[in-house]
Amino acid sequence: MKIGLFDSGIGGISVLKKLTYLNGAHYIYIADTNRAPYGIKTPDMLENFVFQFMKFFEYKNVDEVFAACNTTDSIIIERRIRFDVKYHSIVKAGISASKSLNVGVIGTNVTIKNETYKKQLEKLNKNVYQKSTQLFVSLVEEGIFYGRMVEAIANFYLNSFRKTNIEELILGCTHFPFLKGIISRVLNNVKIIDPAEELSKEIEIDKSRKPFVEFYVTGDIKDFERKLKRINFRVPHVVHKLKIDNLKVVSSEKTNIINWNVRSG
Ligand code: DGL
Repeated sequence: MKIGLFDSGIGGISVLKKLTYLNGAHYIYIADTNRAPYGIKTPDMLENFVFQFMKFFEYKNVDEVFAACNTTDSIIIERRIRFDVKYHSIVKAGISASKSLNVGVIGTNVTIKNETYKKQLEKLNKNVYQKSTQLFVSLVEEGIFYGRMVEAIANFYLNSFRKTNIEELILGCTHFPFLKGIISRVLNNVKIIDPAEELSKEIEIDKSRKPFVEFYVTGDIKDFERKLKRINFRVPHVVHKLKIDNLKVVSSEKTNIINWNVRSG
């Protein structure tokens, strides 16, 4: 089975990791680092990106697509975009994961402005407090996961939730689970929900083969490889350069083909 995922960068790897534990599929992951971050783009631009990637997935014979980006997923939901291939929504998974009455949501500027989580949760009669925490995306892409600066930014963004009675906080951006430690320290009595947990229940469990990932990166490959090392990504993989204007793979530099048995030993 071939599974497609795309994100602006490494955020979606928080989804990819969960899927690779459960299914030894062949994964195609597009990291659109050249056009990141997505949270400050217009909905029309984002819709265009989505169609480019879906076309690429079609060319790669992908069987199913798992959303690895809430921002584009919120556009897909708001604009009621449908695909020929089976598409698994992370926003919908995040909503199903919510079990409390008072819910906080953090996401990118676009996701929060769209109010996709808010509207759907309110339909379930929940009280929703949402906030954009866009800078978290840049911190994660820079590999800054802890320290005084992250603490200051986390406090700046999350302090206002302390005045609410939220019982849960949905991490409505796939970059945010990388900052889960600091987020749960700032909001220490709040249950932190990573929608990828719920989303991963949608994949068929098949451990008969080892997973393999083909990364397609629109920006600098070396930079992306450094990021993979920083987050200790150990699933066997290869990194390709993807030139987005004509959706052609312009070079296929084979790097980091990791022997699963040795590394996972
Ligand atoms: N990781 C993405 C999300 O889940 C996009 C973040 C960004 O590029 O702004 O929304």
